[in-house]
Amino acid sequence: MSCVIVVGSQWGDEGKGKIVDLLTEHAEVVVRFQGGNNAGHTLVVNREQFIFHLIPSGILHSEKKCLIGNGVVVDLEVLLQEVTALRERGVSLSPANLAISERAHLILPYHKHLDLSREAAKGKNSIGTTGRGIGPCYEDKVSRVGVRMVDLLDREVFQEKVRENLKEKNFIFEQFFKVAPIDPEAIFQTFLPLADFFRPYVANVSLLIDEAIRDGKNVLFEGAQGTHLDVDHGTYPYVTSSNPVAGSVCAGAGLGPNKIQAVVGLVKAYTTRVGGGPFTAELTDDTGLLLREKGGEYGATTGRPRRCGWLDTVVLRDSARLNGLTHLALTKLDVLSGLKTIKICTSYACAARDLHQMPALLKDLERCRPVYEEMEGWTDSLQGIRRFEDLPPAAQKYVRRIEELVQVPVGIISVGPGREETLTMGNPFQE
Ligand code: GDP
Ligand code: IMO
Ligand code: MG
Repeated sequence: MSCVIVVGSQWGDEGKGKIVDLLTEHAEVVVRFQGGNNAGHTLVVNREQFIFHLIPSGILHSEKKCLIGNGVVVDLEVLLQEVTALRERGVSLSPANLAISERAHLILPYHKHLDLSREAAKGKNSIGTTGRGIGPCYEDKVSRVGVRMVDLLDREVFQEKVRENLKEKNFIFEQFFKVAPIDPEAIFQTFLPLADFFRPYVANVSLLIDEAIRDGKNVLFEGAQGTHLDVDHGTYPYVTSSNPVAGSVCAGAGLGPNKIQAVVGLVKAYTTRVGGGPFTAELTDDTGLLLREKGGEYGATTGRPRRCGWLDTVVLRDSARLNGLTHLALTKLDVLSGLKTIKICTSYACAARDLHQMPALLKDLERCRPVYEEMEGWTDSLQGIRRFEDLPPAAQKYVRRIEELVQVPVGIISVGPGREETLTMGNPFQE
C-alpha cells in the first residue's frame, strides 16, 4: 500500500491532469482534496482531449475509483455537465467509480454572483479569479454558514440554510454592489433535482480511503492549482482560497499524515501564471509570446492567455520545502526545443539583497528582479523520445541543473500532451 500526492509547484497548469492520469495506472483510488472547478486539468489519450474541472483525472481508467474529498468545493451544475459529457463520450460513470464526500461544501449561485461582483468592483486591482465562486464558498465554510452535500440531501435543511444565507447576501448585493438579488426559489428549482441525481454518489470519502489503505491498495491524491496560489504560502492576496500544498491532503480527504509515502511536484519547464499578481521571471517580450504560442498557454478553464516566463527555482525551492517533495515531474520540456539559450532564475535581487526564498510582503516581491543563469538550448525535436539518455545533451543538462538547484530528483519527464509522450525514471508508488 502507498499513498502518493501530486501537487503543482508553480502557479497551476503544470500538467497535473496528464501526470495523474499516467500514475493512475499504479493506483486503485484517485482523490481530489481541495479547490473546485477553478481547476482545469487536461488529458490527451489516443489523441482525444479531455478537460476535467471536478472529476478526478483518473476517471478514464474505468476500473479505478475516483473520489471528491470534503476539502473540495463542488458546483453540482458543473459536475453534472462533466458527468453527462463524459458519458456521451463513452466513459462509464456511476456510483461504482465516482463518489463525493458528504461533507464537501457546495458552490451556490450566490457565491458566483459575489465573486463576479467583487471582481468587477475592484476594477484594475482585481485578483483575476476564475469567477467560479471559489473564494465566497470557502468563506462561508469558515464562517460556518456553508451548505454541504449532506445538507442538500435533506430538503428542509437545505431550504432553511439557503433562505437564511440569502438574507445577508441579498442585502450586500442590493445595498453594496447595487446588483440584482437572488431568488431562493430559483436555487431550489435547480438544486433539488440535482440532489436526487447525486444522492447515490454521496459517501463518507474518508472511510472509503481508509478501507482502500487497509486493503493494501495504492491511493493517488490529485492537487489542483499550485503551491504559490496557496492561501497561506502563496503570493497573497493573489492566491486562491484553499491550500493546494501537499499537507492539505490530510484535512481535505480525511486521513493521517503517517499514510503518505511520496509527494510528486509538477514543474512546467518554464513558468506560467493566469490572473493578477507578482511574477518575477515573467517575460513580456517576444520570448514570452513564443512560449505562450508554442506551449498553447491559454487557460483550460477560462481560456485566458497565460503569462509566461523562464523557469524560476526560487519558486521551486519554496515548493520543495512547503510540500516535502520527493520527486519532480517535469512537463512541457518539448516547448523549449529550438531556443538558442534558456535562462533559469536562481535567486532574486531585491534592494541590494540576494534572496533565495520568496518574500512575504507583496511590495518586496514586486521589487524583486530575477537573477538568471544562462544555459545552452537544443534544436532537435523531442518527439518520440522515451528514454533520458536519448534526450539531446543540452536538454539532459537542463534537467540535471534543475535537480541541483531544487535538490529534488526528477522522476518523470513529459515531452508532449499525450499519455505516452513521457519518460519515466521510476515509480513513486514503489520507492
Ligand atoms: P493542469 O491544470 O496542471 O492539469 O494543467 P493544464 O491542463 O491546465 O495545462 C497543461 C497543458 O499542457 C494542457 O493543455 C496539456 O495537454 C498540456 N501538456 C501537458 N504536458 C505536456 C507536455 O509535456 N508537452 C506539451 N507540449 N504539452 C503538455
Ligand atoms: P489548475 O488546477 C491556474 C488562479 C486564478 C486567479 C487565482 C484566484 O488548473 O492548475 P480563484 O477562482 O481560485 O479564486 O482565482 O487563482 N487559479 C488558477 N490558475 N490554474 C488553476 O488551476 C487555477 N485555479 C485558480 O486565475 O489568479
Ligand atoms: Mg489547469
